[in-house]
Amino acid sequence: MGKATIDLVKEHETIIHVLELLNKIQKNDKLSEASQIKFYGELAYFLEIFADKCHHGKEEVRMYHILIPLCDELEKNLIVALIEEHVKARAIVREIKAAVEAGSVEEAAQAAKKYSILLHDHIREENEVMFPSLEKRITEKQQEIMYERFQQVEEQTLGGGVKDKLIMMIDSWENELI
Ligand SMILES: [Fe+2]
Ligand SMILES: [Fe+2]
Repeated sequence: MGKATIDLVKEHETIIHVLELLNKIQKNDKLSEASQIKFYGELAYFLEIFADKCHHGKEEVRMYHILIPLCDELEKNLIVALIEEHVKARAIVREIKAAVEAGSVEEAAQAAKKYSILLHDHIREENEVMFPSLEKRITEKQQEIMYERFQQVEEQTLGGGVKDKLIMMIDSWENELI
């Protein structure tokens, strides 16, 4: 695998890790409503900043849109479908945020489950079909240029201490909510 695709696959692992924590937290029946609402608020923040602005930002703007002209019809259709899934994921994050604002644990939990199902399928499709297919179309050099651009997206979205804040948040879920 090239540098850029390895970076995206690593981010997939982080997203899957968070979705596994979500699953465990949803099975913990000892949590108060207040701590669940706080968790869903933080989860929406992670999904918005890390999964969407950083990760989907890298994929859409710095990879898919650039590679579309190099792709065949089948690959183009898959890219369109994957971008539509990013749009759906964004809408579900808005649902989680609205549920948190309304104080509804039930609605936040349902929306989070929906997000988890969508992203598991989406990530599987990217890891197993889209990325191997794109790797055949780009050179090592192009992978490196793409990786440099990914670093800029990362700086814009996770810079200024945001990355550390997210890491601390995930640690606190693991230590306090499971
Ligand atoms: Fe994606
Ligand atoms: Fe992805």
